Amino acid sequence: MTPVKAVVLTLCLALPGLALGQSADDAAEDAIEARHGFMKMLGINMGQLSGMAKGEIPYDEAAASRATANIVALTQYDAPALFVEGTSSEENDDSDALPAIWEKPDDFRAKFAGLAEAAAGSPEAVQGGQDNLGPVLQKIGGACKACHDDYRKAD
Ligand code: HEC
Repeated sequence: MTPVKAVVLTLCLALPGLALGQSADDAAEDAIEARHGFMKMLGINMGQLSGMAKGEIPYDEAAASRATANIVALTQYDAPALFVEGTSSEENDDSDALPAIWEKPDDFRAKFAGLAEAAAGSPEAVQGGQDNLGPVLQKIGGACKACHDDYRKAD
């Protein structure tokens, strides 16, 4: 082994993250995976609430409050930042994110802010009885749909 090769090899072993690096492809896949997980967390909490609203799960005030608080917390995360360049549905098979997101980034962000607005106050609003779930679900669900209609590829 030449000295140069030995040095390069040593560097690679010592600094796998830096020397081998994260390729742009890995970063794109990570962002897609992360936003899918993010959306799934929203979906799980919405599912719990709608299960209670339909009577499939017994109404539980504390659980309903927790599910809505989780949604509120998720809206504090900068999810639009996970929509990195090169990850639209036309550029990556794993993505259902329409190219319109990158054409209208301000509107996309506004739709995400719309979810935060819709979820605000919901942990209190779902208290007091099963009947209070429907209006909250409609409001939050409307904000999910408003974004999906414009920016998520239909199946
Ligand atoms: C600001 C826009 C926006 C809002 C608001 C939004 N979504 Fe999404 N959602 C998307 C986009 C874009 C995708 C496609 C992402 C991709 O495939 O990379 C998506 C995908 C999903 C998926 C599929 C995830 C997967 O694994 O493929 C689920 C489930 C989902 N959203 C649920 C929700 C729920 C529930 C809400 C409301 C509580 C919501 N979303 C609000 C934009 C949004």
